[in-house]
Amino acid sequence: MSADPSNNCSVCIQVNGREYTRTVEPRVHLADFLRQELGLTGTHLGCEQGVCGMCTVLVDGEPVKSCLVLTPQVEGREVRTVESLDQDGELSALQKAFHDKHALQCGFCTPAFLMVAQSLEGMSADTERGELREALAGVLCRCTGYKKIVDAVEEWLGAQEGARNG
Ligand code: FES
Ligand code: FES
Repeated sequence: MSADPSNNCSVCIQVNGREYTRTVEPRVHLADFLRQELGLTGTHLGCEQGVCGMCTVLVDGEPVKSCLVLTPQVEGREVRTVESLDQDGELSALQKAFHDKHALQCGFCTPAFLMVAQSLEGMSADTERGELREALAGVLCRCTGYKKIVDAVEEWLGAQEGARNG
């Protein structure tokens, strides 16, 4: 990261496996950077105060509320957004599980839930529902309730474990 006289700074960030170098105002948060600078509008914004979790992305594999992170803070880090999930235009297994279990209604919260769920990859399929619910607790849904979302994550973890065990 380097500063220029206008206080803007140059940042280099990996997003969805691709490296981006951009000059940004230091106060721009990561969600705005992703949406406005990179056009990755799958990351949604709700409260912009760290409450709703709509803006959740993965930074170095961990769920992070991107409205609370300034873009220069992720210099050199690896960011992953919902746009990284599909495979050649096909839904990923996790996305299919959400679809099959009807784990969304308006869908506004779905990218955030998908990214939190993605961070659980490799977790045992025997994980208690309460533990899954807790892992997903940082994102609010105003439509569906949470049962079907947890059902979808459980199904996906089970399928993953089945594939691992052959
Ligand atoms: S937009 Fe609500 S937590 Fe970021
Ligand atoms: S599906 Fe509408 S907010 Fe969650």
